[in-house]
Amino acid sequence: MKLRWSHCVLYVRDLDAMIDFYRDVLGFQVSDRGPMDPATPDGIQLAFLSQVGSDHHQIAFAPVRGDGPSTTLDHIAFRVDSLDEVKEMADRLAADGRVTEVSPVNHGNAWSIYFPDPEGNRIEVFCDSPFHVRQPQLDGWDLSMSEADVRRATEERFGSEPDFMPMPDFLTRHRRTHGD
Ligand SMILES: [Fe+2]
Repeated sequence: MKLRWSHCVLYVRDLDAMIDFYRDVLGFQVSDRGPMDPATPDGIQLAFLSQVGSDHHQIAFAPVRGDGPSTTLDHIAFRVDSLDEVKEMADRLAADGRVTEVSPVNHGNAWSIYFPDPEGNRIEVFCDSPFHVRQPQLDGWDLSMSEADVRRATEERFGSEPDFMPMPDFLTRHRRTHGD
């Protein structure tokens, strides 16, 4: 048995504002929206969002949160294919303006940005780096850096870690212990 990431559901305060942000900025589409209790169609509405054909929803919203802490979640993370796509997301956020705190983080094995959604849930958008390095690792990077710059900085910062190696080598070792 393998448990593969499927989705998360967030309690939200403002369903429409959350849908707008996840659709307009992050690129999701609403796959379904409907009452939590079919017997009361005008009651609380849930919304389901996805941007991949393989999953009806990757994230869903349940608008039942009060005025307590903004979130009980550390972060949710989405993988993209390249550093350019990470930067593209940062550009989208800057152009959109709803989110102003975008933090680039270099984990050594992943190049990320972190930012809050409109209700304070932290989101990570990352691409894999070509390297493995023992986790956790946190370093900064600058959105103006080229991929070659980030790669060089990653080798300089993490290259002396005992477990630093090309990602394919790590995956070969990892599959030996975890399976495909
Ligand atoms: Fe993460």
